[in-house]
Amino acid sequence: MLTLGILASGRGSNFQSIIDSIASGFLKANIAVLITDNPNAYAIERARKHNIDSLVLKPRDFTNKDTYYAHIARELKERGVELVVLAGFMRVIGKALIDQYKNKIMNIHPALLPSFPGLHGQKQAVDYGVRISGCTVHFVDEGMDTGPVIIQAAVPAYHDDTEETLSERILKQEHKIFPYAIRLYEEGRIYVEGRKVFIKGDRQDSFLINPSCPFF
Ligand code: GRF
Repeated sequence: MLTLGILASGRGSNFQSIIDSIASGFLKANIAVLITDNPNAYAIERARKHNIDSLVLKPRDFTNKDTYYAHIARELKERGVELVVLAGFMRVIGKALIDQYKNKIMNIHPALLPSFPGLHGQKQAVDYGVRISGCTVHFVDEGMDTGPVIIQAAVPAYHDDTEETLSERILKQEHKIFPYAIRLYEEGRIYVEGRKVFIKGDRQDSFLINPSCPFF
C-alpha cells in the first residue's frame, strides 16, 4: 500500500478525486496527511470528512523558504509518506523538499506543458487562441512546472471559451489522469531517464490520450 502526502492550497477537487479513487479501490493507497499553506482551503474540510490528518503550515511563520520546506519534508517523512502529491498547491517547491523526494513529487497542471506554465494556465490558453489544451501530470523539480512529464490529456479549446468553460473541461480530465498517474506509480511502472518518463508495459509514445487507461 502506497502512502501519500497531499499538499493543496484551495478547493481540493483533485484531492477529492484521489480520496474517491481510494474509496472505489482504483488506488491501493492511503493518505497520511494533507498539508496546506492556506487556513481557508476547502481541502481541509474534505480531509476532515474523510478522517485525514491536516496541517496548516504558513510560509510566513518560517524564517525562509528552506526552513519551510525542510519542515514539510520532516512532517511527510515522519508519517512514512512515499509519494507527495501536489493537488493545487500554489507555490514553487523549495529544494529542501525536492532533495528529500527526488522524482517522488507529482503535480497536476491545467495546460499541456511546456505551454502555459504558472498561474492561470487555462486563461493563458484562451487568450492565446489555441485549438487544443489539456492537463499534464509531471514530476516536480525546482522550476515552475518544468519537471518530467508523466501523462497528459488533451481537450478541445474553442474561441468562445472563457477561462471558466475551458477550466471545467480540463478539470474533468485532471480528475482522471491524476489518479491514473498515481496508480502507475503505485504499480512500480514508472521510471525516469533524464527528462523522459517511461511507463512499463505501455507504448511509450502515446500518452496524449492513453489507450490503456481504464478511463479513456
Ligand atoms: C487545478 O486546476 C490544478 O490543475 C491546478 O490547480 C487547480 C487545483 O484545483 N494545479 P483543485 O483545488 O484540485 O480543485
